[in-house]
Parts: sequence; structure tokens; C-alpha cells
Amino acid sequence: MRYVVTGAAGFIGSHLSDALVEGGHDVVAVDCLTDYYDPAEKEENARGLDLLRIDLAEESLDLDGVDGVFHLAGQPGVRSFGEAFPLYLRRNVLATQRVFDAASTAGLRVVFASSSSIYGEAERYPTPEGTVPEPISPYGITKLACEQLARAYGLDSVALRYFTVYGPRQRPDMLFRRICDALTSGGTIEIYGTGEQSRSFTEVGDVVDATIAAMAEAPAGAVYNVGGGDEASLLEAVALLEEISGRPLDVRHLDRARGDVRRTQADVSRIRDALGWEPRVPLARGLERMWAWASARVATP
Ligand code: UGA
Repeated sequence: MRYVVTGAAGFIGSHLSDALVEGGHDVVAVDCLTDYYDPAEKEENARGLDLLRIDLAEESLDLDGVDGVFHLAGQPGVRSFGEAFPLYLRRNVLATQRVFDAASTAGLRVVFASSSSIYGEAERYPTPEGTVPEPISPYGITKLACEQLARAYGLDSVALRYFTVYGPRQRPDMLFRRICDALTSGGTIEIYGTGEQSRSFTEVGDVVDATIAAMAEAPAGAVYNVGGGDEASLLEAVALLEEISGRPLDVRHLDRARGDVRRTQADVSRIRDALGWEPRVPLARGLERMWAWASARVATP
């Protein structure tokens, strides 16, 4: 099969592209290498892929001969109040609308990255997909808008609500990456609030498996949580990484961040029943893998 992957140089998109290539597929790797973080890091992620630099918010996507689109490009990060909002609108809502428009004309399926942040402070935990979405961040609102756009288009689409994904190549603004970087450099990690907030942390290999299965097997219009089995607080995660690395961390507490939910916990029964997918990588094993990557990266820059 021949698939377009947007955001192919990003954290999840690059792992997905590698797995598709390994599975014998052709990948049209699309990314415009925004400067949200160092583009050199993205180029490193995409090593081995032939990157097409297209800005989806204004350039067109050629879908001739393509069998499906994985749309992972976007402006990530839940701490999204303030002046960055036009970027969230452009890179999430506008770019996605244009991808949906092109896929709809071409009659193609789109599997796209939504987010646990569409739930906000959810009314129940574990949180099933039918829960009323009440995002508390501008980012979450743009992700929910993308889901609604797919519905409005009547698109053959699958929305995947990823829950705090981690692993090798994690974005440098995300918590585990910052912890790994602090552990390698002997620096300090800043925790927003008490650190008692918790997440359904999800290993990127599990996320890739769910994403590929969704393209192949999900019914049109499906919406799934893709979340990890182990919920952990930030302080528990810090302790685990200290133990795995054998190094102590200097932790400083800042105010709680606006847009940051207190808890996420995925109910994955829907995707388990439909696709037979469930998270397989326990947090401790996933963190060992991530630490191995982060420490090797520093040893051989
Ligand atoms: C992550 C991604 O960044 C979003 O793009 C994604 O949509 C979202 O997961 C999701 O699940 O939908 P988040 O859960 O905030 O968002 O992931 P991290 O950035 O790794 O933060 C996890 C927790 O650590 C948050 O409570 C955050 O406030 C905290 N944190 C993060 C710190 O205390 N200090 C930091 O330096 C970074």
C-alpha cells in the first residue's frame, strides 16, 4: 500500500513511518519542519525517509495513487494560551480541513491524531469515548474541532485520541524528555504544581500499532482512545526514572500550568473490542527504553 504520513518528521509520525516502511509499504512522508522545536531534531527523526516539505495550511497535497492518509501533523502542546493561538488554528484546524477536503475528493480514508485533551477534567475515570468533551486548553479545542470537521465532511476517518505518548524521540518540551535531559546534564526539572497530577502514559510503539490497525480494520467514523495501561503521577514517574538511570534529580515546583488537566485515564474497551488492540508496554519497561535512547543520544551526539 502507499500511504501519506503528515507530520512524518515528528515524534509519533516518524515512528509510524518507519514501521510502515518496515511493513513493506510505500510512505509519502510530509512535514514542513516548523520551528516549534529544533528542526534538526526532526530531520534526525526522519533519517531514512524522503521528506516532502509541504505546508498543509496553504499548499496542496497530491493524493494520486495513494491508498490512505495518516494525518499526524499539527501544533502540539496543551499549554497553549496566549499569542500562539493563531498557530494552533493554522496548523491544526486549517491544515486539517485542507487534508480532509483533499481526502474527501479523492475518496480516501484518513486516520488522524486527536488527543486526550479533548476531555478536559473528565466527568469519569477511566474515561470512555462517549464522555462529554470539555477541553480546558485552546489546543484541546482545536483538536476537538478537527474531530467535528471529520464528522461534518462525512469522511471515511478514524480519530485516535492519544494519551500522553512517550518513548524515544519524544518532543523536547514534554515531561519525560525534560526529565531525561535533566538526568543526562545534571540539571533541574521544573514540575508544574504538586506533581500529583497523573496521566495514562502511552508508549509510542503501542501507539504505532493502534494507528496501523485503525487504517486497516476500523469502521469508518470510529473514534478511539489510545491510552496506556499504567496511570502514574508525575512524582511516581520522576522516581522511576531516577531508579532506572541510577541518578538523582533536582526537582523544583512551579505554579500549576493553565490548560493542564489533573488526571487522564483511558478506557480502552472500545478499541480492544473493535481492533483487538491494548497497550502492551508497562511504564517501567517503556521508560527503560526511553532512557536507553536519551543517554545514548548524549553519548553520541
Ligand atoms: C501531551 C502532549 O504534549 C500533547 O500534545 C497531547 O495532546 C497530550 O499529551 C494528550 O495526551 O492529549 P501532556 O499530558 O501535558 O500533553 O504531556 P507532557 O507535556 O509530557 O506533560 C505531562 C505532565 O507533566 C503535565 O501535567 C505537565 O504539566 C507536566 N510537566 C511537563 C511539568 O510538570 N514540567 C514540564 O517541564 C513539562
